[in-house]
Amino acid sequence: MTHTNIKPVELEKAYRLLNHGPTVLVSAQNGKDVDVMAAAWACALEFSPAKVTVVLDKSTKTRQIIEQNGYFALQVPCFAQIDMTYQLGSISQFEEPDKLKICGTELFYPDDSGVPLVEGCIAWLICKVIPEPHNQQAHDLFIGSVIGAWADSRVFRDGHWHFSNVDNSLKSLHYIAGGTFYTIGDEVKTSL
Ligand SMILES: Cc1cc2nc3c(=O)[nH]c(=O)nc-3n(C[C@H](O)[C@H](O)[C@H](O)COP(=O)(O)O)c2cc1C
Repeated sequence: MTHTNIKPVELEKAYRLLNHGPTVLVSAQNGKDVDVMAAAWACALEFSPAKVTVVLDKSTKTRQIIEQNGYFALQVPCFAQIDMTYQLGSISQFEEPDKLKICGTELFYPDDSGVPLVEGCIAWLICKVIPEPHNQQAHDLFIGSVIGAWADSRVFRDGHWHFSNVDNSLKSLHYIAGGTFYTIGDEVKTSL
């Protein structure tokens, strides 16, 4: 897999990768334990230093790995990955140890943090957990400090998304329920 379109994103601009409310994939690794799950409840939290939130249910293996290792990545999948995204959100590795193989999920490592990223996505944020035991326990809410961000320059460059005039396959996914998503819609601008 070549990564010629993957370009670093300034951490101060990393919030824009999530500002439009995409469904994300959450990935994590602790030694030989590697998992990826879908998450609709991920959000930017602060511009600088860049922070994000994600809600991770206690039933998920991905959460267990994150609790052990203290790092995770959020990545923005695209329409080309809709089936994989839904499968990653429907199968638990607790029940299916071969989950990633079944889902056809391939990983790469952009730096030496050891956090795996999912091939074929359009943006990636590597995050270090800011431990907040009460929020994690009571609300399943995890806060991460963004330590690295990248995006596919075909759709994100100069600090902005450019979804107009790109193939549908590269558009972000926005979850409704029950296997239904929207792809990102038309760009419209205020006259102000
Ligand atoms: C589109 C979609 C969005 C989801 N969003 C969330 C979420 O925000 N938080 C969460 O805990 N689970 C969410 N889920 C469910 C998890 O992805 C699911 O429980 C997954 O199987 C966990 O896998 P794991 O146990 O291998 O980590 C979502 C599922 C789908 C299909």
